[in-house]
Amino acid sequence: MKGLILSGGTGSRLYPLTYTNAKQLIPVANKPILFRVIESIRDAGIDDIGIVVGSTAEQIKDAVGRGNRWGVNITYIPQEKPLGLAHAVKIAQPFIGDDRFVMFLGDNVIQGGISTLISQFATSDWNSQIVLTRIEHPEQYGVAELGEDGHIVRLVEKPKVPPSDLALVGIYMFDHHIFEAADRIKPSWRGELEITDAIQWLVDHNCTVHPYIHRGWWIDTGAPGDMLSANDLVLEEIEHAIEGYVDRDSKVDHRVTIQRGAEIINSTVRGPAIIGEHARIINSYVGPYTSIDHHVVVENSEIEHSMVLENSRILDIEARIQDSLIGRDVVVARSPIRPKALKLTVGDHSKVGIL
Ligand code: DAU
Repeated sequence: MKGLILSGGTGSRLYPLTYTNAKQLIPVANKPILFRVIESIRDAGIDDIGIVVGSTAEQIKDAVGRGNRWGVNITYIPQEKPLGLAHAVKIAQPFIGDDRFVMFLGDNVIQGGISTLISQFATSDWNSQIVLTRIEHPEQYGVAELGEDGHIVRLVEKPKVPPSDLALVGIYMFDHHIFEAADRIKPSWRGELEITDAIQWLVDHNCTVHPYIHRGWWIDTGAPGDMLSANDLVLEEIEHAIEGYVDRDSKVDHRVTIQRGAEIINSTVRGPAIIGEHARIINSYVGPYTSIDHHVVVENSEIEHSMVLENSRILDIEARIQDSLIGRDVVVARSPIRPKALKLTVGDHSKVGIL
């Protein structure tokens, strides 16, 4: 089997963090979502992986390279415009050839990985397997209606009135029939070739599409609120690992990972939390559900339930920072200059909550 990861698109829904980055590269618990996707596919025994890339191609190539780090072989498939998931399948046909394959959206992660799903599909004669999960508001996803015996009756993309609570997770398995389906469908109201319509075509043309109902968590990083909850879910599974330095005056809970080269000086870190490589926590408190990325400095400050991305600095802040998403190379500090005032340099679409 082969793997196909979709990492095109512009990521506009995650502004402002994605002005400077592809959304698939935003780290969840200090690891880009795309890296988690590559690991899930590799762990399922697949080492030939194609990545569909769009306007953020260069950033993705810089971050992922040829795949040596994971022991996989990466092929990049450029997509001129984000014309839909089924369009991405079409342009990937020369890479896939006649192989069966798993298609994984580069901003989706599921609990427990995909090894069982892949071995089920690889040993079956199904033409496709899709992953469904029950959610409260499936309107913004593809939604499946199943018959009484569990077979798929109908799939609809972002329906106003959902026929069920079963959303399509962004993980799909196909054989070569999907290429014919992608050729036959027409663009939807949003101008995209929808994978949901292509799968409906398979169902209508007597192909076997097996619905698998996933019961653990599922992350689709759509909006800033989702980023923090995605981070919470992944941090729940963090292991106690101290690879950095913790001085004698510091207190580090269980369920905390301190990565290589990080230093914790006279500080308290409560888990679940992760402190990235070469980060420095000095005279500070880092509370539960916090990810501090590599080369971040937190000094004389308190932070909880937040994400701080690489190279940022939080210095001498009196109030506790909470429920916050702080991007790369950001400085949050007290200003020594009078008058006593808030001095903000904040990017477009940012949100700042002031007491
Ligand atoms: O996340 C699950 C949902 O993903 C499914 O429930 C929907 O049925 C499916 O259509 C899809 O919906 P979205 O509207 O959320 O997809 P989005 O446009 O966010 O694209 C998902 C990923 O695929 C994202 O990493 C960008 C990439 N992509 C997207 C398009 C449209 C491409 O690589 N090429 C494209 O043309």
